[in-house]
Amino acid sequence: MFLEANHAKCKSYLLICDETHQAAFIDPLRDHVDRYLALLAYYGAKLALAIDTHTHADHRTGVAELADLTGAAVVMHQRSPSPRVTRHVEEGDRLRVGNLELRVLYTPGHTPDSISLLAADRVFTGDVLLIHGTGRCDFPGGDPGQSFDSITHKLLTLPDATLMFPAHDYRGHTQSTIGDERRSNPRIAGRTREQYVDLMNHLGLPLPDSIQEVLQPNQSEIEAASLQFPPLAQLNAVRQIDGAELSAALAGPEPPLLVDVREPEEFRGELGHIPGAVCIPLRELSERVHEIESYKNRDIVAVCRVGVRSTTAAAILTGLGFERVCNLKGGMLDWNTEHRAVER
Ligand SMILES: [Fe+2]
Repeated sequence: MFLEANHAKCKSYLLICDETHQAAFIDPLRDHVDRYLALLAYYGAKLALAIDTHTHADHRTGVAELADLTGAAVVMHQRSPSPRVTRHVEEGDRLRVGNLELRVLYTPGHTPDSISLLAADRVFTGDVLLIHGTGRCDFPGGDPGQSFDSITHKLLTLPDATLMFPAHDYRGHTQSTIGDERRSNPRIAGRTREQYVDLMNHLGLPLPDSIQEVLQPNQSEIEAASLQFPPLAQLNAVRQIDGAELSAALAGPEPPLLVDVREPEEFRGELGHIPGAVCIPLRELSERVHEIESYKNRDIVAVCRVGVRSTTAAAILTGLGFERVCNLKGGMLDWNTEHRAVER
């Protein structure tokens, strides 16, 4: 069974296996969790998976609250910055919901952590491919070239009859087909990659009013009230260094202090941590900053899972008077991919 759970600009979907009553929610909103629980109860369904197709910038996600209340796993792409994800997925992974299967397509572009989900003859495209549109690529980490490749190589190569369901629609559409979008999507049809990139770079859309109030809590699972999140300009000002630069600095005469701002379980978890790093979770950073006070005029590198929460941390430290703070781009995920030193 398949339900569109809110008929608004933000689309959420509920899938229930008719035989086992196992269920999955795709892109649930935090404001509607009560309604979702009522829906699940009405259908006698047990939520197995709470899935976000990407880190949302325009609404608070409901995945963590749904997981807390139902025991469901929180599923996102491995590039998701959120510490609440319990199951990281990547291209080709298969998610079981009773006897239903969702195949993961990695479709970055709108965000670096965007996935689409293919369930037999339906595809849930998140904000990468919209009905007669495509998702904007000007949020942090967005990339119009990747968006074009995701859409043309992965989504529009699905069978024509595949039903397509996006995470947003602003014009009252509820579904489309891959064939329709291939023939007539006005952003894509007849455009080269260069033309698409140029178009997306010049959309000139205003940023949502509350983007930072929504984005940073979604990225970190920290309530905005408990932490003063830095504004976008301060985040953009954070110096980013890559793994090679950090490795060189660590081998140098005055190695930087590594402040790993993930949760302790992540610090000890599968990605491990860089030898010598101190763990000060982002949520505790302001109250524990005295622990690194002696590093005020020395180099500090902030580290997290994919480099998003640590950019927030680096901006906070800069605001607190630490003069030489930068961020490890790509975080522990890229550090591991590059086979650099890790302690577990
Ligand atoms: Fe989005």
